[in-house]
Amino acid sequence: MNTKTALIYATVDGHTLKICERLKEVLLQHDQPAEIIHIEAFDGDLSSYDRIVLGASIRYGVHDKNIVELINTRQQELESKKTAFFSVNLVARKPEKSSPETNPYVVKFFKKISWRPDIAETFAGMLDYPRYSFFDRTMIRLIMWMTKGPTDPTTVKEYTNWDKVDAFGKRLASL
Ligand SMILES: Cc1cc2nc3c(=O)[nH]c(=O)nc-3n(C[C@H](O)[C@H](O)[C@H](O)COP(=O)(O)O)c2cc1C
Repeated sequence: MNTKTALIYATVDGHTLKICERLKEVLLQHDQPAEIIHIEAFDGDLSSYDRIVLGASIRYGVHDKNIVELINTRQQELESKKTAFFSVNLVARKPEKSSPETNPYVVKFFKKISWRPDIAETFAGMLDYPRYSFFDRTMIRLIMWMTKGPTDPTTVKEYTNWDKVDAFGKRLASL
Protein backbone atom coordinates (compact mmCIF):
# COMPACT_ATOMS: atom_id res chain seq x y z
CA MET A 1 0.00 0.00 0.00
CA ASN A 2 1.27 3.46 -0.90
CA THR A 3 0.69 5.54 2.20
CA LYS A 4 0.03 9.14 1.24
CA THR A 5 1.58 11.84 3.37
CA ALA A 6 0.75 15.52 3.74
CA LEU A 7 3.71 17.64 4.85
CA ILE A 8 2.03 20.80 6.14
CA TYR A 9 4.47 23.50 7.08
CA ALA A 10 4.86 27.09 8.26
CA THR A 11 8.00 29.04 7.48
CA VAL A 12 9.38 32.56 7.59
CA ASP A 13 12.55 32.26 5.52
CA GLY A 14 12.01 28.93 3.78
CA HIS A 15 14.14 26.61 5.89
CA THR A 16 11.23 24.52 7.14
CA LEU A 17 10.18 24.07 3.51
CA LYS A 18 13.71 22.84 2.68
CA ILE A 19 13.38 20.24 5.44
CA CYS A 20 9.96 19.19 4.08
CA GLU A 21 11.51 18.77 0.62
CA ARG A 22 14.15 16.47 2.06
CA LEU A 23 11.53 14.46 3.98
CA LYS A 24 9.52 14.12 0.78
CA GLU A 25 12.60 12.75 -1.00
CA VAL A 26 13.13 10.16 1.73
CA LEU A 27 9.47 9.11 1.54
CA LEU A 28 9.71 8.81 -2.24
CA GLN A 29 12.75 6.59 -1.81
CA HIS A 30 10.37 4.32 0.12
CA ASP A 31 7.80 4.55 -2.71
CA GLN A 32 5.54 6.69 -0.57
CA PRO A 33 4.01 9.74 -2.22
CA ALA A 34 4.01 12.99 -0.28
CA GLU A 35 2.54 16.40 -0.84
CA ILE A 36 4.09 19.55 0.59
CA ILE A 37 1.50 22.14 1.59
CA HIS A 38 2.07 25.62 2.99
CA ILE A 39 -0.22 26.12 5.97
CA GLU A 40 -1.76 29.18 4.35
CA ALA A 41 -2.56 27.24 1.16
CA PHE A 42 -4.03 24.28 3.05
CA ASP A 43 -7.68 23.86 2.08
CA GLY A 44 -8.63 22.05 5.26
CA ASP A 45 -9.18 18.64 3.65
CA LEU A 46 -7.14 15.89 5.30
CA SER A 47 -9.31 13.04 4.04
CA SER A 48 -7.03 11.88 1.24
CA TYR A 49 -3.96 11.48 3.48
CA ASP A 50 -3.03 8.58 5.74
CA ARG A 51 -0.22 10.42 7.41
CA ILE A 52 0.03 14.06 8.44
CA VAL A 53 3.33 15.76 9.22
CA LEU A 54 3.25 19.25 10.73
CA GLY A 55 6.44 21.32 10.68
CA ALA A 56 7.03 24.84 11.97
CA SER A 57 9.92 27.10 12.81
CA ILE A 58 10.33 29.25 15.89
CA ARG A 59 10.16 33.01 15.64
CA TYR A 60 10.63 34.91 18.88
CA GLY A 61 9.85 31.91 20.99
CA VAL A 62 6.71 30.63 19.29
CA HIS A 63 5.57 28.33 16.50
CA ASP A 64 3.29 29.65 13.78
CA LYS A 65 -0.19 30.31 15.14
CA ASN A 66 -1.88 28.72 12.13
CA ILE A 67 -0.20 25.39 12.84
CA VAL A 68 -1.35 25.59 16.46
CA GLU A 69 -4.86 26.44 15.28
CA LEU A 70 -4.92 23.48 12.89
CA ILE A 71 -3.96 21.17 15.76
CA ASN A 72 -6.56 22.65 18.10
CA THR A 73 -9.41 22.63 15.61
CA ARG A 74 -8.66 19.26 13.97
CA GLN A 75 -7.30 17.23 16.85
CA GLN A 76 -9.85 14.42 16.54
CA GLU A 77 -9.15 13.98 12.83
CA LEU A 78 -5.41 14.10 13.44
CA GLU A 79 -5.81 11.37 16.03
CA SER A 80 -7.45 9.12 13.45
CA LYS A 81 -4.27 9.20 11.32
CA LYS A 82 -0.56 8.62 11.65
CA THR A 83 0.97 11.93 12.66
CA ALA A 84 4.32 13.62 13.19
CA PHE A 85 5.49 17.03 14.30
CA PHE A 86 8.82 18.78 13.92
CA SER A 87 10.14 22.11 15.14
CA VAL A 88 12.96 24.16 13.60
CA ASN A 89 14.90 26.62 15.73
CA LEU A 90 18.38 27.85 16.52
CA VAL A 91 18.46 26.80 20.16
CA ALA A 92 18.44 23.23 18.81
CA ARG A 93 21.99 23.77 17.50
CA LYS A 94 23.04 22.91 21.06
CA PRO A 95 23.18 19.13 21.42
CA GLU A 96 21.65 19.28 24.90
CA LYS A 97 18.62 21.15 23.49
CA SER A 98 18.22 19.24 20.27
CA SER A 99 15.59 16.65 21.13
CA PRO A 100 11.82 17.14 21.59
CA GLU A 101 12.30 16.23 25.26
CA THR A 102 15.01 18.84 25.85
CA ASN A 103 14.22 21.66 23.42
CA PRO A 104 12.50 24.38 25.49
CA TYR A 105 10.15 25.45 22.67
CA VAL A 106 8.95 21.91 21.99
CA VAL A 107 8.57 21.13 25.68
CA LYS A 108 6.49 24.30 26.13
CA PHE A 109 4.50 23.56 22.97
CA PHE A 110 3.40 20.14 24.21
CA LYS A 111 2.53 21.55 27.62
CA LYS A 112 -0.02 23.81 25.95
CA ILE A 113 -1.76 21.25 23.75
CA SER A 114 -3.14 17.78 24.40
CA TRP A 115 -2.46 16.40 20.89
CA ARG A 116 0.41 13.92 20.83
CA PRO A 117 1.82 12.97 17.42
CA ASP A 118 3.17 9.46 16.90
CA ILE A 119 6.64 10.92 16.48
CA ALA A 120 8.21 14.34 17.05
CA GLU A 121 11.60 15.82 16.25
CA THR A 122 13.57 19.02 16.61
CA PHE A 123 15.95 20.35 13.98
CA ALA A 124 18.48 23.14 14.20
CA GLY A 125 17.71 25.82 11.64
CA MET A 126 19.47 28.48 9.63
CA LEU A 127 21.18 31.66 10.77
CA ASP A 128 21.25 34.24 7.99
CA TYR A 129 22.03 37.71 9.38
CA PRO A 130 22.28 39.55 6.00
CA ARG A 131 18.75 38.46 5.20
CA TYR A 132 17.18 39.86 8.36
CA SER A 133 15.80 43.34 8.88
CA PHE A 134 17.89 45.62 11.07
CA PHE A 135 15.58 44.98 14.02
CA ASP A 136 15.58 41.18 13.62
CA ARG A 137 19.34 41.10 13.07
CA THR A 138 19.89 43.09 16.24
CA MET A 139 17.57 40.86 18.24
CA ILE A 140 19.05 37.62 16.93
CA ARG A 141 22.58 38.90 17.53
CA LEU A 142 21.58 39.61 21.11
CA ILE A 143 20.10 36.12 21.49
CA MET A 144 23.26 34.64 19.93
CA TRP A 145 25.49 36.68 22.21
CA MET A 146 23.56 35.39 25.23
CA THR A 147 23.81 31.80 24.01
CA LYS A 148 27.45 32.03 22.87
CA GLY A 149 26.64 31.79 19.14
CA PRO A 150 28.07 33.86 16.24
CA THR A 151 27.37 37.60 16.42
CA ASP A 152 29.27 38.69 13.28
CA PRO A 153 26.44 40.30 11.26
CA THR A 154 27.74 38.78 8.01
CA THR A 155 27.30 35.21 9.30
CA VAL A 156 25.27 32.81 7.19
CA LYS A 157 25.26 29.36 8.75
CA GLU A 158 23.10 26.30 8.37
CA TYR A 159 23.03 24.25 11.57
CA THR A 160 20.70 21.53 10.31
CA ASN A 161 21.92 17.99 10.70
CA TRP A 162 20.65 16.42 7.47
CA ASP A 163 21.39 12.90 8.68
CA LYS A 164 18.94 13.58 11.48
CA VAL A 165 16.36 14.77 8.92
CA ASP A 166 16.93 11.61 6.87
CA ALA A 167 16.53 9.46 9.99
CA PHE A 168 13.25 11.21 10.78
CA GLY A 169 12.13 10.61 7.19
CA LYS A 170 12.85 6.89 7.61
CA ARG A 171 10.87 6.81 10.85
CA LEU A 172 8.02 8.53 9.00
CA ALA A 173 8.16 5.97 6.23
CA SER A 174 7.69 3.14 8.72
CA LEU A 175 4.86 4.76 10.69
C1 LIG B 1 13.02 37.10 13.46
C2 LIG B 1 13.51 35.78 13.91
C3 LIG B 1 13.26 35.34 15.20
C4 LIG B 1 13.75 34.09 15.62
N1 LIG B 1 13.52 33.70 16.91
C5 LIG B 1 14.07 32.56 17.36
C6 LIG B 1 13.92 32.17 18.72
O1 LIG B 1 13.26 32.82 19.51
N2 LIG B 1 14.55 31.03 19.11
C7 LIG B 1 15.28 30.25 18.25
O2 LIG B 1 15.83 29.24 18.69
N3 LIG B 1 15.41 30.58 16.96
C8 LIG B 1 14.83 31.71 16.49
N4 LIG B 1 14.97 32.07 15.19
C9 LIG B 1 15.69 31.18 14.28
C10 LIG B 1 14.75 30.44 13.33
O3 LIG B 1 13.94 29.53 14.01
C11 LIG B 1 15.63 29.73 12.30
O4 LIG B 1 16.29 30.72 11.52
C12 LIG B 1 14.87 28.80 11.37
O5 LIG B 1 15.78 28.18 10.50
C13 LIG B 1 13.82 29.57 10.57
O6 LIG B 1 13.11 28.65 9.78
P1 LIG B 1 12.13 29.15 8.64
O7 LIG B 1 12.99 29.76 7.56
O8 LIG B 1 11.43 27.93 8.18
O9 LIG B 1 11.19 30.14 9.26
C14 LIG B 1 14.49 33.29 14.73
C15 LIG B 1 14.74 33.74 13.43
C16 LIG B 1 14.26 34.96 13.02
C17 LIG B 1 14.55 35.43 11.63
